[in-house]
Order: sequence, then C-alpha cells, then structure tokens
Amino acid sequence: MLVLKQLTKTFPVGGGSVKTAVSDVNLTIPTGQFVTVIGSNGAGKSTLLNLISGRHWPDYGSIELNGVDITAWGEHRRAAYIGRVFQDPLQGTAGSMTVEENLSIAECRGRRRSLGRGVTRARRERYKALLAQLELGLEHRLKTPVAELSGGQRQSLSLIMATMTRPSLLLLDEHTAALDPKTALQVLALTRRVVSEYGLTTLMVTHNLEHALLMGDRTIMMHEGQIVLDVAGAERAGMTVSDLLERFTRTRGERIVDERLLLG
Ligand SMILES: Nc1ncnc2c1ncn2[C@@H]1O[C@H](COP(=O)(O)OP(=O)(O)OP(=O)(O)O)[C@@H](O)[C@H]1O
Ligand SMILES: [Mg+2]
Repeated sequence: MLVLKQLTKTFPVGGGSVKTAVSDVNLTIPTGQFVTVIGSNGAGKSTLLNLISGRHWPDYGSIELNGVDITAWGEHRRAAYIGRVFQDPLQGTAGSMTVEENLSIAECRGRRRSLGRGVTRARRERYKALLAQLELGLEHRLKTPVAELSGGQRQSLSLIMATMTRPSLLLLDEHTAALDPKTALQVLALTRRVVSEYGLTTLMVTHNLEHALLMGDRTIMMHEGQIVLDVAGAERAGMTVSDLLERFTRTRGERIVDERLLLG
C-alpha cells in the first residue's frame, strides 16, 4: 500500500518566487491497485511520481510504502522497491549495451550486494523465457545492442526491466506517448498483463483519456498540483471520455467560482 500525506513540492522560479508543483496531496493506494493519472500540462503528474521515486525531495509531507516511511530514503534505496518506465524509450535502457546486459543490470538494481553483472547460462535461460512472453522475438536477440531495437521493443524491454524484480510499486510516466498508436496499444496490453500477473501496485500517467479509462481500476485527475477528481468502481466503469472531460471542466469551474467568492 502506498500512502501519501500532505505531499507538497515547490520549485524556485526566479525573482524569489516559487511554483507549487504538488500541493498538499493526500492519496492512499491499496496493494495491487492500478491507478491511472491524468491532467493537463504542468498539472504536477511527473513531479508527483518523482517525489515517490525519490528523484525530488518534498518540501513537506510523507510517503509510506507497505507500512514503511520512505520519505527520507534516497532514490537508489527506493529503486529496490519501485520500478519506473518513462516516456522516452532511450531513458529506460542503455543503448550501447546488449539486451541481456540491460536485463542483468535491472535484476541487480537497488541490491546492496550485487549478483555480479556477468550473464550466466541460468540467467540467460531466465531472460529468454521472460522475453519470449513479449512475442517480439527478442529472446533470439539477447546479444543485440538495445540501440538497434525499435521504440516499441525498447519500451517493452523497459517494462520487463522495471518489473522483473516484482517491485512493490510500478510508476509509468506516459510510457506509451512516444509510440505510434498501434505500438502504444501493444505496450499497454503488455502493461496490463505484467501488472495483473504480478499483482503490482501501479501509477500510470497518460494524456490519453481513453487509455486512462481502459487501463486499471481507478483514475485520478490532477490540476494545479492537486487531485481534483478520483473515480473508481461502478462510477468509473460507466464513464466515457466526454464524462471525464465534463467532470474536469466542472471541477475547474467550481474552483474558479470558489476563488472569486473568496476574493469577493
Ligand atoms: N525541476 C523543475 N524545476 C522547476 N520547475 C519544475 C521542475 N519540474 C517541474 N516543474 C514545474 O512544476 C510544474 C509541474 O510540472 P510537472 O512536470 O509535474 O507537470 P506534468 O503534469 O507532468 O506535465 P506534462 O503533462 O507536461 O508532463 C510545472 O509548472 C513545471 O514547470
Ligand atoms: Mg509530465
């Protein structure tokens, strides 16, 4: 279970002023829940994921994962428990290294005592079995440098790398946004399969409202650093993209009205 309490992050923007990217976010995600995160540009989605992964320190608030307060943990220590896939296929994998070297590094990630990065025969067989599930033929390309793979193959590999140690939490930040629509759907199908097979607690950011409703069990919407919509269960199951848009507009409208009332 992931529990965020009063999580807040500001960035200096020059002239002595600050931008509040994440503002007093309270969020509880039960173990095994798959949450999709939507919101316009600059809403604070990536910052929220970066706070959870330890890339950024919060100004205020706490992060608890499976009952352990990890707020003071560094990024490397958290990496043993948190898998990540980013938008850029180049970011999750090392291009100049081979497929099996990448998998080997991922397997050792966050472990204090390294298994050694050398690829033994037993490990190679395990990697082959993992890759065969992708049905992309990568199991025959263990010695291929990752730079020679397509964007979709690379993102699929990133996903396998992020999940092969069965992390307590999986963070996906627009991991299909750089792919063509057909490949994006293939990577989403793989995402769904891996998440359900391992029962992973997952946060997936997307700009695609259809994908947000298609994937996972719950959808949250961020706006100006806050969670302004949180839907799950029967309410979500009956929702269309236009319902979602309408709810968003209404939330924003109400906020503006509130602010005017307060100022008035
Ligand atoms: N490292 C940083 N330094 C300064 N400001 C930042 C930094 N990271 C994010 N911000 C600011 O914080 C706000 C939230 O940014 P964030 O990247 O979290 O948004 P987002 O919801 O992920 O947007 P997008 O959909 O465009 O990816 C923005 O105003 C952004 O400019
Ligand atoms: Mg972002």
